[in-house]
Amino acid sequence: MPVGALCIIVTILVAGFLAEPDRYAIGYEPTQPMPFSHLIHAGINHIPCEYCHTNAGRSRYATVPAFQTCLNCHHFVNSPYSKTIESLVKSDKSLEWKRIYHLPQHVFFDHRAHINAGIQCQSCHGPVQKMNVVRRVMNMRMGRCLACHRHPEPYLPPNSSIKRGPTDCTACHR
Ligand code: HEC
Ligand code: HEC
Ligand code: HEC
Ligand code: HEC
Ligand code: HEC
Repeated sequence: MPVGALCIIVTILVAGFLAEPDRYAIGYEPTQPMPFSHLIHAGINHIPCEYCHTNAGRSRYATVPAFQTCLNCHHFVNSPYSKTIESLVKSDKSLEWKRIYHLPQHVFFDHRAHINAGIQCQSCHGPVQKMNVVRRVMNMRMGRCLACHRHPEPYLPPNSSIKRGPTDCTACHR
């Protein structure tokens, strides 16, 4: 192959890699408007994921809880942030949490099917209960979805009757 052509190919690959949208970047760990820690809540205090992400098993989106949910405890927790949370709720305000996991519009993903199949949050999101700041650990490329759909056994409960996830294009591109 001529050296010129090789240079062009390498340039295209490098430019593509650098221009890769951050939704694919592993390790993405944005600073949030409040230093909410999963390590403190889900780790040290063993609060179940679905106590806050109530919708994971019953709707497409897991959703981040409203500050009202935080007050269940922060009425009683002695922390400067308890005051902030109370005043947010009182004034009917919220904070913009930065999204970490986000698929492009043309992909369909629904938490329900996965949670109800018995797949752990950690299979996709990693050990969130050990993170002070949520860090993206899942590669959200099509190949990642398909790899599990072809061989989901390691992620399913031992007695599961499910053999595979769908691999036809229209399951994820509707
Ligand atoms: C099979 C993989 C998988 C599992 C299991 C999974 N998630 Fe997700 N999660 C994703 C993907 C993919 C996205 C991005 C979805 C999108 O952009 O439409 C996401 C997004 C999210 C979001 C942000 C967007 C939203 O849906 O509100 C939260 C919060 C979340 N997941 C929490 C959880 C929790 C809590 C659990 C366990 C109860 C869980 N996830 C289990 C793959 C998974
Ligand atoms: C089930 C009880 C519970 C819920 C629900 C809860 N928290 Fe907490 N939170 C705690 C406890 C316990 C601590 C640790 C306090 C300590 O270490 O002194 C804490 C600590 C914190 C801290 C750190 C405080 C500091 O002084 O460093 C922040 C910030 C915080 N929580 C925000 C939130 C937010 C935001 C929500 C809602 C999304 C929430 N919490 C929901 C129990 C809870
Ligand atoms: C006390 C409430 C609470 C508990 C318990 C909790 N979370 Fe969260 N979670 C939040 C809040 C608030 C955010 C938004 C701020 C942030 O990203 O840290 C969030 C964000 C996330 C995100 C990032 C969503 C996105 O894409 O922007 C994931 C993934 C997630 N949680 C998974 C989990 C898992 C897995 C567990 C259990 C191990 C869990 N959470 C337990 C409150 C909670
Ligand atoms: C850790 C394994 C795992 C990963 C990763 C995973 N899936 Fe799945 N998915 C499954 C299993 C298992 C099923 C079948 C569930 C059943 O049959 O009840 C499924 C079912 C589905 C379905 C059909 C059910 C429905 O809601 O319509 C869609 C669509 C889907 N997955 C999309 C995705 C996408 C998109 C991704 C990647 C972002 C993904 N999945 C990643 C295991 C996984
Ligand atoms: C299990 C879910 C799943 C299935 C099945 C699936 N895809 Fe995808 N597809 C994705 C996800 C997630 C993305 C976005 C991430 C990426 O581009 O890799 C994507 C992206 C794409 C893209 C855009 C690539 C880009 O660079 O943006 C094309 C084209 C595509 N898929 C075609 C197909 C075709 C054709 C099939 C059937 C042979 C198929 N997909 C089956 C999940 C799936």
